[in-house]
Amino acid sequence: MPDKSSLTIVLAAGEGTRMRSRLPKVLHPVAGQSLLAHVVGAAPKGRGTSLAVVVGPDRQDVSDEARRVRADTEIFVQTDRLGTAHAVLAARAAIARGVDHILIAFGDTPLISASTLERMRKPLNDGAAVVVLGFRAVDPTGYGRLLLNGDRLIAIREEADASDAERRVNLCNAGVMALDGKTALKILDRIGNANKKSEYYLPDAVAIANELGLKAMAIETSEDEVRGINTKAQLAEAEQVMQTRLCQQALDAGVTIIAPETVFLAADTRFGNDVVIEPFVVIGPGVTIGDGAVIHSFSHIANASIGRNVSVGPYARLRPGTSLGDGVRIGNFVEVKAATLGAGAKANHLAYIGDSSVGENANIGAGTITCNYDGFNKHRTEIGAGAFIGTNSSLVAPVKIGAGAYIGSGSVITRNVPDDALALERSEQAMRPGWARRFREMKQSGKARTGVKSETGVKSGMGKKPAETNGKTKIKSAATPAKKANKSPSKKPAGKSASGKPARKRTK
Ligand code: UD1
Ligand code: MG
Repeated sequence: MPDKSSLTIVLAAGEGTRMRSRLPKVLHPVAGQSLLAHVVGAAPKGRGTSLAVVVGPDRQDVSDEARRVRADTEIFVQTDRLGTAHAVLAARAAIARGVDHILIAFGDTPLISASTLERMRKPLNDGAAVVVLGFRAVDPTGYGRLLLNGDRLIAIREEADASDAERRVNLCNAGVMALDGKTALKILDRIGNANKKSEYYLPDAVAIANELGLKAMAIETSEDEVRGINTKAQLAEAEQVMQTRLCQQALDAGVTIIAPETVFLAADTRFGNDVVIEPFVVIGPGVTIGDGAVIHSFSHIANASIGRNVSVGPYARLRPGTSLGDGVRIGNFVEVKAATLGAGAKANHLAYIGDSSVGENANIGAGTITCNYDGFNKHRTEIGAGAFIGTNSSLVAPVKIGAGAYIGSGSVITRNVPDDALALERSEQAMRPGWARRFREMKQSGKARTGVKSETGVKSGMGKKPAETNGKTKIKSAATPAKKANKSPSKKPAGKSASGKPARKRTK
């Protein structure tokens, strides 16, 4: 309806006491987005549309959230909570400006769709002054009941004011209303508070329209779409409905979701073609997944961009600020935060990559940790293209590892490493030829004293102190070979450790 202007008013001044939470009700999340963001997102947008949100006093957080989602949101404050009609009139200035259609939605009804709101505008074009969204409630308790006469809506009766016969009606008020802009203020200003709760009820707009000889009518939708959230249990129900809806949309778009009932998506998750989501994956807000990517089971992802043909998990965690280039592999028990990995980079097992940039085709060995936090500040780690970070390395940030550099396993790297260099930081390995055989023999013979010192830290038996030698071979002190080997590890050719062994990754 591009020719008709619209003003959507979202009521969000309620206290939400039944949520038993310090967080305002409309800021609780469903599918990674606040309730308010869902409703604001469903409002008509583009040319000729405007949006007003009515908030309670001192609710800067609610105002900020509305403006975050839609920058041109006008905020109106309802100082005293005197009812839903009173809340709508808090936005009087916006209504008085003059607009063709007014849509009123509740901030605690997040499953409402843009298409339903659009559908409600049609009868306004056909001459209705008030259009109410109704639904057939499984249990109508607590809702306002729609009282019809043929296709005309005569009144809405709130539960507290309803007769027994009216309470048996199961066609209920969803709370969403569309008003013809020409007559809206005339109707709203006539709403009084002569009812059980002494509140100004928006539903009374229906009876007043009838009194004024204007037409009011209802259109219907499913209960799922208009579930209002007043409690944590209802929040969980809405999450379920939303997840089913989001999974269905993703499946329709060609995403393979093996077990949809185990997967959580966010309302803004974006998928490429041929993406596979394995069971038990949780996707938070701000996630983009490129063509051909596979998200393996038990992975948790939020605010991350995943390139084409990337493999994530099982058991991976991608935290905010993660950006994975094409063909990246993030394996089990790898956590990535505020880090960019270039195409083809791999971190296949047990690593933490935080506040980092990792060049193309770099290989991060199992157990690698970027030590990004000193207790006060976060520091960056830069790893060049094609670098090889040996297993169990600690990269103490700020630090740069050059392109093609090689970090020996178990190193604690505190200084920058030039391109193509080997950096190695660990103590020399002690060797005792034949020790293990003698130790076994001692244990197997059951003797207390065979002269084998317990190098394993296991007591050598029967509480007696083991001897230094076995009588024949003197055991070498660990210091002797270490001294020699430690002389100059950097002079050794790349690929060999101080002990002459390549610093190798433990696993693939
Ligand atoms: C309302 C309707 C009821 C309908 C039901 C659907 C009224 C009087 N009743 O009842 O017919 O079946 O919703 O869920 O409208 N709010 C304000 N300021 C106020 C009062 C409310 O901003 O002074 C906001 C709340 O934040 C909420 C919405 O209006 O977003 C609805 O208020 P709520 O108290 O939840 O109304 P219900 O009793 O659920
Ligand atoms: Mg309610």
